[in-house]
Amino acid sequence: MRTTTQTTATVAVLGTGVMGAPIARNLLRAGYPVRVWNRSPGKAEALATLGARIASSPAEAASDADFLITMLTDGDAVETTMTGSEGALAALPADAVWVQMSTVGVGATERLAALARGRVAFVDAPVSGSSEPAERGELLILASGDRALHTRVQPLFDVLGRRTLWLDRVGDGSSLKLALNNWLAVLVEGMAETLSLTEALGLDPALLLATLAESPLGSAYATAKGRAMVERDFTPGFPLRHADKDAALVLQAAERLGHDLPLTGALLKRWDEAISAGHAEDDVAAAVTAA
Ligand SMILES: NC(=O)c1ccc[n+]([C@@H]2O[C@H](COP(=O)([O-])OP(=O)(O)OC[C@H]3O[C@@H](n4cnc5c(N)ncnc54)[C@H](OP(=O)(O)O)[C@@H]3O)[C@@H](O)[C@H]2O)c1
Repeated sequence: MRTTTQTTATVAVLGTGVMGAPIARNLLRAGYPVRVWNRSPGKAEALATLGARIASSPAEAASDADFLITMLTDGDAVETTMTGSEGALAALPADAVWVQMSTVGVGATERLAALARGRVAFVDAPVSGSSEPAERGELLILASGDRALHTRVQPLFDVLGRRTLWLDRVGDGSSLKLALNNWLAVLVEGMAETLSLTEALGLDPALLLATLAESPLGSAYATAKGRAMVERDFTPGFPLRHADKDAALVLQAAERLGHDLPLTGALLKRWDEAISAGHAEDDVAAAVTAA
């Protein structure tokens, strides 16, 4: 647990879902005054017991914020929350910093950065790590924004993450996030299909996992997902619906560049099937149900 430091900078957190709630909790524990808003108010209310002020609209949360964090599902959700009825953007003080931490892809990040331009400072800061690292304040933060903002925002990131990677151009954080999640997708689908092959060959899938664990071919992440697949334990760490959304964002970004990603295209079709079969909220390991 980090040392509690009192600070006077007020932080608005818009979106208190699986990731936003632990982010708000860690900021409260570190002594920041925190305003929270969530579309379904019930999810934000529990944070009041830790000292968060519950706002009834994004605008109310933003009105006295020094920093505003968006941690919402996708680019459309962020845009609506910032610019819709009682949106946060018009209410933010001009010297505030908008820290966009949702995974929204490259095109939406450009759109959101353009919305902020001339209005407030914008930092693109998606994260790697799921709910448990978020709760422990051990996310990897992939940040990009004006160099002059780094020292201002870093104390916030020190509360939320184990490491901040500052990248050069605004949007580079979202680009790296897409590259990382493409790798995650390929690892998960590769494991799902290889387990299915192992069984078809008449072997115990546990043998594959044990052999990989002792081999340079193994990956700790893929092996952990493989174990979950074998045990059919789909307790969500990283839900399939988010992994699927991210694979779609990867494909959109690649298409804009005229870049072909046949593996991602193929796995996305299979993951869409697993989602249609009812596995949206399950962990990404449920990709195995389509294998
Ligand atoms: N979960 C992970 O392991 C993980 C890891 C790294 C990055 N991420 C990324 O972090 C972001 C948040 O993920 P999460 O796991 O916290 O998701 P979540 O638990 O599903 O929360 C999503 C949040 O977005 C809100 N929302 C959705 N659509 C909205 C709309 N149209 N208008 C306003 N609010 C809307 C939801 O409000 P309601 O409560 O009203 O539905 C909720 O507050 C996503 O971009 C995800 O890809 C997640």
